[in-house]
Amino acid sequence: MKLFDVYPLYNVTPVKAEGVYVWDDKGTKYLDLYGGHGVISIGHSHPKYVDSLTNQLKEIGFYSNSIQNPLQVELAQKLGKLSDCENFNLFLCNSGAESNENALKLASFVTGKSRIVSFTNSFHGRTSAAVAVTDNMNINAPINLQQKVTFLPLNEIDLVYHEIGKKDVAAVIIEGIQGVGGLDEGTSEFFKEVQSVCNKNGVLLILDEIQSGYGRSGQFFAFQQHNIQPDIITTAKGMANGFPIGGVLISNKYEAKYGMLGTTFGGNHLACAAAISVLDSIEQEKLIANVNEVYHYFLEEIKSVSKVKKVKGRGLMLGLEFDFEVGELRKKLIFDKNIFTGGSNNKYLLRILPPLTIKKEQIAFFINALKELLA
Ligand SMILES: Cc1ncc(COP(=O)(O)O)c(C=O)c1O
Repeated sequence: MKLFDVYPLYNVTPVKAEGVYVWDDKGTKYLDLYGGHGVISIGHSHPKYVDSLTNQLKEIGFYSNSIQNPLQVELAQKLGKLSDCENFNLFLCNSGAESNENALKLASFVTGKSRIVSFTNSFHGRTSAAVAVTDNMNINAPINLQQKVTFLPLNEIDLVYHEIGKKDVAAVIIEGIQGVGGLDEGTSEFFKEVQSVCNKNGVLLILDEIQSGYGRSGQFFAFQQHNIQPDIITTAKGMANGFPIGGVLISNKYEAKYGMLGTTFGGNHLACAAAISVLDSIEQEKLIANVNEVYHYFLEEIKSVSKVKKVKGRGLMLGLEFDFEVGELRKKLIFDKNIFTGGSNNKYLLRILPPLTIKKEQIAFFINALKELLA
């Protein structure tokens, strides 16, 4: 059997990783400024993470969601406290798309409605409803087009009023900061007005923090910059440093009913152990403070690279915009300078999503390499 060939691959085979570095099968060391699509939060093979998963595996790795699992309760308590979202309840699943799928389903259960408002250039995943609210027709199959979705440009509040005024909208879904789309984000004023119009009309506001959450933006969740309270928050990527997991944080205004949501693997012992060790490390190692410190250093230093036209995003969720397509530059960064970076829908944008443990010296190394390649 061969693999179903859906991914264009770089010719690199990582076999080992530690902190912000990855080694390939030939022993070449790479600086990882991409964290495998923003997944690595506390650093590759973090010792606490490795111990926590190893010890858990020796005890019990999995049982179904029909038994008590104190690790889920511990994870929910720690997440509520660290994210300052103690008035939310947690539903655990296995991926980002699944988090959004459940969030959208819940909004539809709660409101009895089915139309969703989403935004231009959004990315919310590849399952049924999640892909339907993703602004990319190329990844929507005919079966996904049954969903009722309206895409609006970011920061056009009158259009949001207009759609919600039609009284058939279950939810508005929006990324804290757009990831795959290219690091655009709503203004504080826009987020506040969206929240207010949603609240007034019984429409649920879903904040997709799958990429922008877990400290990456310099706050636990990127929306916290805008002083708003969503109804549902979705998380995944950085949540367990590479172990598959997704989380739906649901305002305690909404009551759970048995059978409303469910999953076989979601919230299993191993995923919880991994996710708890991530929260402990974020707290104990003060990683959010590190994100802010490194971010400010980055902003200062990148000014010396004149070919960078614009820096987008916040914290360690950054995009460098050039006036040329960055495909070749990314290849040179990997093969000439041994640095992983990311791309986005915006072909002119280089995406930077390193582990939250990265240090200024490593950013300096990248900026130097960038200068050499652009000279
Ligand atoms: C903002 C956002 N939402 C949802 C997803 C989907 O997550 P997953 O690939 O884990 O299903 C992604 C993945 O890139 C994402 O960036």
